[in-house]
Amino acid sequence: MNGLLCYCRAGFEPDLAAELGDRAAEAGIAGYARATRGEGYLLFLGDDSAMATRLPWRSLVFARQSLRLFAELRDLDPRDRIAPMLEAIESERDMDPGRRAPYGELWVEHPDSDAGKPLSGLARSFGNALRPVLRKRGLLAASDDPRLPRLHVCFVAGDHALLADSDPADSAPWPLGVPRLRLHADAPSRSALKLEEALLTLLDDTQRREWLRPGMTAADLGAAPGGWTWVLARHGLRVIAIDNGPLRPHLLETGLVEHLRADGFHWQPARPLDWMVCDMVEQPTRVARRVGEWFREGWCRHAIFNLKLPMKKRWLETRRSLDAFRRTAQAPLVLRARQLYHDREEITVHARRVSAT
Ligand SMILES: C[S@@+](CC[C@H](N)C(=O)[O-])C[C@H]1O[C@@H](n2cnc3c(N)ncnc32)[C@H](O)[C@@H]1O
Repeated sequence: MNGLLCYCRAGFEPDLAAELGDRAAEAGIAGYARATRGEGYLLFLGDDSAMATRLPWRSLVFARQSLRLFAELRDLDPRDRIAPMLEAIESERDMDPGRRAPYGELWVEHPDSDAGKPLSGLARSFGNALRPVLRKRGLLAASDDPRLPRLHVCFVAGDHALLADSDPADSAPWPLGVPRLRLHADAPSRSALKLEEALLTLLDDTQRREWLRPGMTAADLGAAPGGWTWVLARHGLRVIAIDNGPLRPHLLETGLVEHLRADGFHWQPARPLDWMVCDMVEQPTRVARRVGEWFREGWCRHAIFNLKLPMKKRWLETRRSLDAFRRTAQAPLVLRARQLYHDREEITVHARRVSAT
């Protein structure tokens, strides 16, 4: 079985299927999606054994996680689910003599959906039972090694499991693709979690260290009540927060934040800034064009912005908005867009000028 097993926000399966369909066609890969709305996952099946490398997780917007699928086991006997799984894992290994090293970790998962969540207890206990068996057979490293490929068992029902593996360099480093972040007591809004997740997901450790340094400057368009501004100020950035609404007073006490009551679609900075972030609730193409103007005018080197999506054809709107952004920016850019765990009907984009260091 060749294909991808992708996790996504429940309800966004058709959007992920449309995205994968387009991306596969562009890459010349024949494939089709097997998806049901609300299940929180989909399979993208085809003949290309290199699909996972040709459609990298990092480049996908609607996939929280993307894994290389190699087996689907139905009608599992609850008295012995391990034997058929071992057989499938060993036969997969035999088919590819290049993969002799053991897996570095085993993650037993379930979709993040109404039907999937009740399977969390089974996933935990099954993982505890399967792990020592895999170790005994030399299929799993004696102790967890996050550098080696990971083995994933995904229960979609008690008697139905999907087997897959992943490359730690091109997959989400969190089970189910969900980072568990806790809202800080001082955060002015839950939205702070969105920007925290964006920084964690769209930048790597080195980029975060180099691109978010004390003394750098930022504008936050649509800042109230101040969650994103608060996250930037915690990194030591000086932030101009643009919003007609009020900011939480303790933000201003940091001495790092200036609040301007202005229209985020018209305000422009007096001098270039390191960052612009934007969480204004508006038509996505309008936001994308405005952020594009910031890059065209050289007003920022980095931007993180949210695009609020319509209820239907969200992939189409995503493409349209990102195209409008690129066309308007007229500058060489690197873009990463993703529907984050803390995003609901929206996606988050990081863009930077290629010359930025
Ligand atoms: C989702 S909230 C932002 C939440 C914020 N990121 C946080 O972390 O607390 C959207 C904000 O955008 C502001 N907004 C919408 N249109 C705007 C505009 N044209 N100019 C400035 N602010 C705008 C609204 O007043 C609202 O406070």
